[in-house]
Amino acid sequence: MKRRDFMTCIGVGSLVSSLPVKVAASEQNTTAISSVSGDWQTVGTTAELDKTGQLLNEKSPVGSVLVVGTSTSKNLIAVNPTCTHMGCTVEWLSNEKIFLCPCHASEYKLDGKVQNGPATKPLSTYTTKIEGNLVMVRRT
Ligand code: FES
Repeated sequence: MKRRDFMTCIGVGSLVSSLPVKVAASEQNTTAISSVSGDWQTVGTTAELDKTGQLLNEKSPVGSVLVVGTSTSKNLIAVNPTCTHMGCTVEWLSNEKIFLCPCHASEYKLDGKVQNGPATKPLSTYTTKIEGNLVMVRRT
């Protein structure tokens, strides 16, 4: 075996033998991110929520969140307001009690399910709670 062939063989062997370790390391990172995402995250204050009956935080650690209700509501509603059709941000229409996409008029019910297309997939939802004066959400 020539020196060059030997070195190529060793190089490929090293790569192949290290792959399972790299795959395992990737899986560990995914698990770590998942467990962190299960935690409660603050998305705003009750004062902000009570001002208009909704609170939009597009940069929370769990993703974009739209909370609907007030600090005295029995059940706060929280969804990811990113329309599942093509990604526009839906708006909350309090009189109709729907989320409406301004781009192509998809409508979503309070629970995030599609009421009228073109969207076919529901909005993601969050579990909500108020702690002190903080509005918090957690992925469902
Ligand atoms: S992006 Fe929302 S309906 Fe098209």
